[in-house]
Amino acid sequence: MNALRIGLIGTGYMGKCHALAWNAVAPVFGDIERPRLAMLGEADEALAARRARELGFERATGDWRRLVADPGIDVISITTPNALHAEMAIAALKAGKHVWCEKPMAPSLAEAEAMHAAWRASGKVAVLGYNYIQNPLIRHIKATIDDGTIGTVNHVRIEMDEDFMADAATPFTPRSAASSGYGALDDFGVHALSLLFTLFGHVRRVFADMAKPYADRPLAAGGRRAVENHDAATMLADVEGGVRAVVQLNRAAWGRKGRIAVQIFGSKGAIVYDQERMNEAQLYVAEGPVAQQGYRTLLAGPAHKPYDRFIPAPGHSLGFNELKVIECRQLIARIAGETSVLIDFDDGLRMERALHAAAESFRAGRWIDVG
Ligand SMILES: NC(=O)c1ccc[n+]([C@@H]2O[C@H](COP(=O)([O-])OP(=O)(O)OC[C@H]3O[C@@H](n4cnc5c(N)ncnc54)[C@H](O)[C@@H]3O)[C@@H](O)[C@H]2O)c1
Repeated sequence: MNALRIGLIGTGYMGKCHALAWNAVAPVFGDIERPRLAMLGEADEALAARRARELGFERATGDWRRLVADPGIDVISITTPNALHAEMAIAALKAGKHVWCEKPMAPSLAEAEAMHAAWRASGKVAVLGYNYIQNPLIRHIKATIDDGTIGTVNHVRIEMDEDFMADAATPFTPRSAASSGYGALDDFGVHALSLLFTLFGHVRRVFADMAKPYADRPLAAGGRRAVENHDAATMLADVEGGVRAVVQLNRAAWGRKGRIAVQIFGSKGAIVYDQERMNEAQLYVAEGPVAQQGYRTLLAGPAHKPYDRFIPAPGHSLGFNELKVIECRQLIARIAGETSVLIDFDDGLRMERALHAAAESFRAGRWIDVG
């Protein structure tokens, strides 16, 4: 395959992460042509030009539509705020580009459906930025479940917690407005669903509850404004294959910085993992003398591929940005028609249907089937 020509829209937190991945993917993996960083798009010309210099892109534009229309681009990374994803992804797919769009697809289900339809019509690759599923230890956990080491899985718990909304004094921002979505359910729910899907399958039915730790927040200009969405949510899920799951989400959880705690209980053992300690997993196998049984710690190392592409020594730890490099290599494999682990617009849409079904369940106070 010829070197892919890359366009990047947005250079904030995730835009930088995509840029690092596009820069690193060829040297890290050593088995592909180095992608050409063709053009970068930002909100204005000056910012675009500066970021293109910093991140190594050949050209820059303050008008994302010029980037999308450019015939010298094969793949577009979309890393702008959620509300812009649909318009940008649909335009990119219509222009015949492959799309790597940050999660979630879009704030509304109707926009996500439109993105899905554009992808179907395009014949191109369109995937979402669910980096946590790319951890080599998550791959290992899946293999451990699939090979029967912990027996039949009967119950799964996923907790995603951070504390950026924990302080009652945190001012009201658009994040607390209804227009930004349901709250923790959108912010975190899709990440939990990406892990559930990767390890077990799609959610078939949901029952959800949501909580509002603070009724209002101070306004920067003085006064207070009522909080319009929910910083905490709980979801019961009935998952393909018969697994039952509990998903707990809280963006007002003091002390939690990037916790995605996964507990998987089976008939012969259990697995425990937490994203805050992303280079280790705990495995419990109920065998041998009871007095000797206990959780043992697995440390990530070259045996957990593709850790070996980054570091030859075990226990030296990969980080968040490395997950994006792995995701990038998976995307290049998908474009080449090879096997890959990714969440495309098809599976992404099903996950977002589960999310909206959860919100509907909270309103209706009953289980809702995911369409
Ligand atoms: N995968 C993950 O773990 C993860 C983590 C954080 C955020 N995200 C997702 O990434 C996306 C971006 O979030 P972020 O935290 O990087 O936001 P951010 O605010 O840091 O960056 C957004 C960037 O988009 C640019 N932008 C805005 N409007 C634009 C326009 N019209 N044209 C070109 N550029 C424009 C902004 O200037 C900014 O550089 C969101 O969809 C978010 O949900 C994913």
